[in-house]
Formats: sequence, C-alpha cells, structure tokens
Amino acid sequence: MAVLKTKIASMRFDPPVILASGVMGQTSSSMLKMHEYGMGGIVTKSIGLEPRAGHPNPTMVELDTGLLNAMGLPNPGIEDFLPELKSLISKVDIPIIASIFGSNREEFIDLAGKMEANGVDAIELNLSCPHAEGYGASIGSNPDLSGDVVDGVVSVTDVPILAKLPPLSDVSVTAKSVEHEGADAIVAINTVKAMALNFETRLPILGNRYGGYSGPGIKPVGLRCVYELFEAVDIPIIGCGGITRGRDALEYILAGASALQVGSAVYYRGREAAKLISEEMIDLMDEQDIKDIHSLIGAAHRC
Ligand SMILES: Cc1cc2nc3c(=O)[nH]c(=O)nc-3n(C[C@H](O)[C@H](O)[C@H](O)COP(=O)(O)O)c2cc1C
Repeated sequence: MAVLKTKIASMRFDPPVILASGVMGQTSSSMLKMHEYGMGGIVTKSIGLEPRAGHPNPTMVELDTGLLNAMGLPNPGIEDFLPELKSLISKVDIPIIASIFGSNREEFIDLAGKMEANGVDAIELNLSCPHAEGYGASIGSNPDLSGDVVDGVVSVTDVPILAKLPPLSDVSVTAKSVEHEGADAIVAINTVKAMALNFETRLPILGNRYGGYSGPGIKPVGLRCVYELFEAVDIPIIGCGGITRGRDALEYILAGASALQVGSAVYYRGREAAKLISEEMIDLMDEQDIKDIHSLIGAAHRC
C-alpha cells in the first residue's frame, strides 16, 4: 500500500492532510474530533491578542463552486483560547499548529511567544485573510512587511514558523521575502477576495460586502500559486485551496506541495473528509504502483 507520510521542518504528518485554519478549529473538542476523523495535523482558528466579534451577518453563503465567507476573524482572544489549546495538546500526538494574526510585528511576536510557551508544534502566521482591514492580506500583500513580521517572530521562537500567503499574482516575491527572513515553510493559499450580489435586493449578500472564496472553485488558483512557489523557494510548501478529493490533493503534490490543508472539504464531505481524501490518494497511487508520495512531490516540473 502506498505510503503517504511526509515531514515539514520537525513535524511528521501521516497522513499529510491537515485541518486548515478557521474550520472546526476553535475548541479543544472540535479539533479533537477532526483528529479522530483522520486529520494528520491541526491548525487552530486564527487567534489575536483581544477577543473579536467578527463581521455582521450574513457571514457565509454557498455559491455554485465554493463557499464565500466574511467571518472577520472572530475569536476569543489568546487568554481565553489557551485553555482549549492546552487541553487539545494533552490529548493528541499529531502536530498542532497555532494560527495567529496581528496588525504589526509586535503583536505577532507577543502572540507567538504565548503560543510557543503553551506547547504548540509550530506557528502559522496569517498574512492572508482577505476580509479583515489591517490584518492578514493587508500585511501579506506587502513583501517587506511580511518579511519584517517573520523576522520578528523567528527571533523570539524556536518552533517552526509557517507563513500563510494570499493568492497574489506575484506570490513568489512575498515568498522569497519570508524565506529570506527565516520562515520554515509556506502555506498557500488562503481564500480569494470575492463578493456575491442579490439581484432582487440589489445589494451585496455578505454583511461585510466582500469575503473570501474557498472550496472547489479556487483549486486552479491554489495550484498555480504552489507551482510558482516550488520554482521560487527552497523551503517546503503546504498546499491549500479547494482540496475536496484525493485527486485534488495529489495534483497539489505534483505542483510541489509536501503536505496539504483542507477546510471547505469538511463542509462538502462531512467530518470524515480527511480520511476519505487520504484513502482516495492511496487508491490512486496503488493503481499506478506508486509506493511513496515523495516521488510525486513537484513531479509536474520535471517535463
Ligand atoms: C469559514 C472559514 C473560516 C476561515 N478562517 C480562517 C482563519 O481564521 N485563518 C486563516 O488563516 N484562514 C481561514 N480560512 C481559510 C482556510 O484556512 C483556507 O485557507 C481556505 O478556505 C482555502 O481552503 P479550502 O478551499 O480547503 O477551504 C477560513 C475559511 C473558511 C471557509
């Protein structure tokens, strides 16, 4: 049977199918469930220094080929989140990655220090949320600001630092900047900034007007980013965006991903999404007598 396990920095993923930030990632019990249903790693909901209510309703709408959300980074704030995190870490032995967001270098440093002190295996920097003014993509779309945040966090932590980037046209420029400042891996992509309108009301559907598009419709955008990143940087890439079936996951591996994150697939395929995706990956590899996933990483570049 094909072997799926891979390594990113000091973390081993088996399977390399990881829960993406923001989906079932806010309580110890929901993250534990996701582990029990087959996720090989967990990324928490993005956490900031203070509690945040997020954007007004509606915050989510299903479209033809994906989901559009403008949650606005709602979260309990780091102090209230830490007990959930500690409870989770005490119960599982898979990599637990804390996603954090801030508006500047100092906020990221503060959050990263607290997360590391509480036992996370890695920290993911949210440099990519497209619908929270002053956070996420506001930083990730600026290569210098992104590099500065990574430099700050790397200088105060010992755990691996993952930089989650937005689907920029020139994503490689920001990627090279964060790699240069010491990021251990890149996660690509976050949701794609988008909107939905209602003809009857003449108005935008989401309370925030703009949101982030996820699910099957964004897979070509994510694949393009991962493919470009593989040629631009030497650090590992975690592919994310529209991975719903095993075939999608393997396409990301061919583009250059060493591991995968899935979010919307939990909506489309239920809580067993990771288990189903992993089984489908193994079936497809077995059909072609491919023994080890490493032989496929970046294979689309060898033409
Ligand atoms: C409801 C929802 C909430 C999300 N919240 C976060 C978040 O807090 N931090 C973050 O980095 N990404 C967040 N994301 C983005 C996902 O982690 C992922 O990058 C994106 O949805 C693309 O993957 P997918 O197509 O598998 O969902 C969120 C996505 C959704 C659908």
